[in-house]
Amino acid sequence: MYRFSALALCAAIVGCAPVPDVTAPAPAMARDIHSFARPEEARVSHVAIDLRADFAQKRLDGTATLDVVVAPDAQRLIVDTRGLEIQRVSSAGHSALRWTLGEADPVLGRPLTIQLPTGVRRVEIAYRTAPDAAALQWLAPEQTAGKRQPYLFSQGQAILTRTWIPTQDSPGIRQTYAATIVVPEGLRAVMSAEMLTPEGEPVPGGRAFRFRMDRPIPPYLIALAVGDLVFRPLGPRTGVYTEPEVLDRAANELADLEQMVEAAERLYGQYRWGRYDVLVLPPSFPFGGMENPRLTFATPTILAGDRSLVSLIAHELAHSWSGNLVTNATWSDFWLNEGFTTYFENRIMEALYGSERAAMLANLGWQTLQAAIAELGGPAGADTRLHLDLGGRDPDQGMTEIPYEKGAALLRTIEQAVGRERWDAYLRSYFDRYAFQPMTTQAFLSDLRSNLIRGDVALEQRLQLEEWVYRPGVPTGATPVPSSAFQRVEALAAAFASGTPAARIPTQGWSTQEWQHFIGSLPMTLPTARLAELDAAFRLSEQGNSEILFAWLELAVRNRYEPATPALERFLTSQGRRKFLTPLYTGLMAQGEWGQALARSIYAAARPTYHSVSTGTIDAIVK
Ligand code: BES
Ligand code: ZN
Repeated sequence: MYRFSALALCAAIVGCAPVPDVTAPAPAMARDIHSFARPEEARVSHVAIDLRADFAQKRLDGTATLDVVVAPDAQRLIVDTRGLEIQRVSSAGHSALRWTLGEADPVLGRPLTIQLPTGVRRVEIAYRTAPDAAALQWLAPEQTAGKRQPYLFSQGQAILTRTWIPTQDSPGIRQTYAATIVVPEGLRAVMSAEMLTPEGEPVPGGRAFRFRMDRPIPPYLIALAVGDLVFRPLGPRTGVYTEPEVLDRAANELADLEQMVEAAERLYGQYRWGRYDVLVLPPSFPFGGMENPRLTFATPTILAGDRSLVSLIAHELAHSWSGNLVTNATWSDFWLNEGFTTYFENRIMEALYGSERAAMLANLGWQTLQAAIAELGGPAGADTRLHLDLGGRDPDQGMTEIPYEKGAALLRTIEQAVGRERWDAYLRSYFDRYAFQPMTTQAFLSDLRSNLIRGDVALEQRLQLEEWVYRPGVPTGATPVPSSAFQRVEALAAAFASGTPAARIPTQGWSTQEWQHFIGSLPMTLPTARLAELDAAFRLSEQGNSEILFAWLELAVRNRYEPATPALERFLTSQGRRKFLTPLYTGLMAQGEWGQALARSIYAAARPTYHSVSTGTIDAIVK
């Protein structure tokens, strides 16, 4: 059954060239429990959206035209929607088609079932989004750097694209796309696609921006941002978009972008998406980064001034292979995206900045993994498995640090077992073999066995693959990447703990990662006087580096260190990155009436500025 759709889909795609030929291995097909789509009946192969951004109403309004590959005898197309107002469905010939919206599921939304008369291969859906569409954040001018113009951005992963585009919202159903976006005069639209009209074209009521993505991508990667945006090139195929006020800082921070792409290509093969640009968003962006193809979306909290947090960009760039080329077939296979990417990210960092920096980052990752295991119920916790059981749950629930760090630890283990040369050759061939295809955990393991392990029984036993992937915890024998710089930092943290004054700790020349590790290595509880000593010696509450400030604030909250509360309040109200918000609000709520009152009052002020991805998590913490 699958062979039919693979061939038919390829034939239906315009510009099929980047898709592997039909002799390539059959892509992994898996039922996706987070989509209503029935791709074996009718499968969307191309989406064309034509939308107007209405900032007053907080709505996108227009049409989505879907090209469909239909199995013989199939009579319906089912697409995913959530909160969309469907107005009309018609065929390419503009005759109305019959459609129904199914019952609403709070997580999955509503299936839109469209009757397909024989021969109909293109359907047009007229619709508008809800003002509270979960994928979209409509920012008031005050929430931007310039404070003059409003801003809009989308966040599709994992299953939010259906809140702004009616399509088959499953990572295994790849689609090319085209878009025309009309925005008010003075604003610019950017998307995860080729820009056909960089300056836009005048139309009644604003400017129209047109885009085209001619490589098939999973719909969670369709992304849009609208704002007062300017661009600066950083290299022949790299550059940065952001607000004018942020451009110099952003361009300086991302100065190594072109070299990063080159390093990534040297590792795992050609970059297949044309340009690689980064959009630095306003601070409410709920993630560190999002790997939207051709245009990574990034939080401004990486703008440290010293390029010390650019591993996040290496991470999003690495997704151009792991995730965007070879894509997790379902959200249970999320580790195939994030674990591979976390590993690849570290290899890019090593290539650009050397093995000591890479070792520190990997070591921090290992600590993150240990903390995540502890939080998820210890080494027997069900969600510490790489292959996730998400039955009946929002995929967001499985998106912990486990897929990232346990996944990366597994790949590092394989690298150590077979040697870097063999492993790199395998990984490069894996990205080539499965480029533009979905991948399941099963299919990866079987590919690894056919193309790397090749019947080597001793190697198979040593790797413990089934245990790594399907069992909780981490197999015994796996070890952190050692860092000599971190050993020195640990000795100094111990010295402080046993009484050495903060002012006497030699911290000159410390990198951000050493600071993070130093703070993380301090005793969990410290008396106020000793915290005051640290704060005075190192001006921690005034830190401009978001990661160092975050590490300090976690320690401060845990110890009810009152003098840091203004810094805490500033941090929680000036950015909305969920990775920073969650531990701090959780920490406050664990501190009795003192922390709970603080959490409630800060959250009351900050909540309206956060994206729904963040409020969805924090609402459950601050009750
Ligand atoms: N793809 C993720 C972001 C994501 C994950 C969005 C799950 C929605 C659901 C992105 O690549 C990512 O992992 N971002 C991290 C940064 C990274 C350096 C670990 C983040 O945002 O913190
Ligand atoms: Zn990622």
